[in-house]
Amino acid sequence: MNSAKLFHSFFQKEPSITTFAHGRVNLIGEHTDYNNGFVLPSLIPQSIEVSICLREDDKIIGISSEFGELQSITSSPKDGTWLDFVRGAIYFFQKISPSLKGLEVAVSSTIPSGSGLSSSAALETALLRAISQLKDISIHSQEMARIGQQIEHQFVGTQCGIMDQMASASGIFGQAIFLDCDNLQTKSIPIFSHHSFVIIHSGSTRKLSHGKYNERKNETSKASAILEVPSLRHATIDQLIKIEDPVIKKRAKHIISENDRVLKAVSCLEKNDPISFGELMNHSHQSMRDDYEISSDELNQVVESAKKNGALGARLTGAGFGGCVVILATNKELPSVSKSVLEDCPQAYPVTTISQELNS
Ligand code: GLA
Repeated sequence: MNSAKLFHSFFQKEPSITTFAHGRVNLIGEHTDYNNGFVLPSLIPQSIEVSICLREDDKIIGISSEFGELQSITSSPKDGTWLDFVRGAIYFFQKISPSLKGLEVAVSSTIPSGSGLSSSAALETALLRAISQLKDISIHSQEMARIGQQIEHQFVGTQCGIMDQMASASGIFGQAIFLDCDNLQTKSIPIFSHHSFVIIHSGSTRKLSHGKYNERKNETSKASAILEVPSLRHATIDQLIKIEDPVIKKRAKHIISENDRVLKAVSCLEKNDPISFGELMNHSHQSMRDDYEISSDELNQVVESAKKNGALGARLTGAGFGGCVVILATNKELPSVSKSVLEDCPQAYPVTTISQELNS
């Protein structure tokens, strides 16, 4: 059911506004965003839709097609439910628009949650779009992304980077967004015309594990402190010799090499070189599996099967610890690659395809 219908059946009235935001797949550049590095996400067709009405009191009443109904008040502490996203959006919006009080909100989603496809950022972006349009306040996409990230930090608990929110707030379909997380500059680059990316869920739900994510963030901060650089964005592979702790060294190696892979991947897109792009994806997965240690058996199985069955490249996408794999293949071979992967990995299921054909 779409969010407007859900709103109507639950609140017995029409919503004042309905907005939506898409999820994203990251093609390459994982965990580099909070190290001020480079990422290359692209929007997926799946989205989250919200329908809302403002309230005169400070109640938040929510209904979600996936998570059911909840009630709270804006000033009560975060409680680990999806209303924390709403509470966070109201909190930050009140700084711009102090007259904002409570909300009635209905949420519907086609983004599988916990799959590394950024359902959280899509929810934040959709909520911020809805409130800003109702309040007639225009917010630049960068600002919206920063607020979304703050909701995550202060109300949800993941010390995430800004990739997901930037992709959701400023992405264009059928294009990859090359984002420099140091200055939030973006460049849209069309994806290959004769090749597509298929996204397959490994069947293991992401066990995030805000803890594991935040642990990686701390490890990379330690690495930059040892190397005396403001962030690993400014470190080079030659400097790794200065890090003695083998775990911190591996984490830093992933970030430094991954940044380099993103830059090379961008040039592959621009030069229409899908073969080298695929190799970079394979190296990226290897690095996440062995050095950053965020893969899982199910993810590795999907990646190996894709490579064995004719894909040019395959890698886990998103935070890791479960979730989805993104696979690059020729348009012609994509259906047979997907079919073989699904046969090899019975727990896996297809999510979506990103292609110029599909999005044109
Ligand atoms: C999550 C975070 C992002 C990014 C990815 C990993 O999606 O929200 O900021 O760090 O993990 O690349």
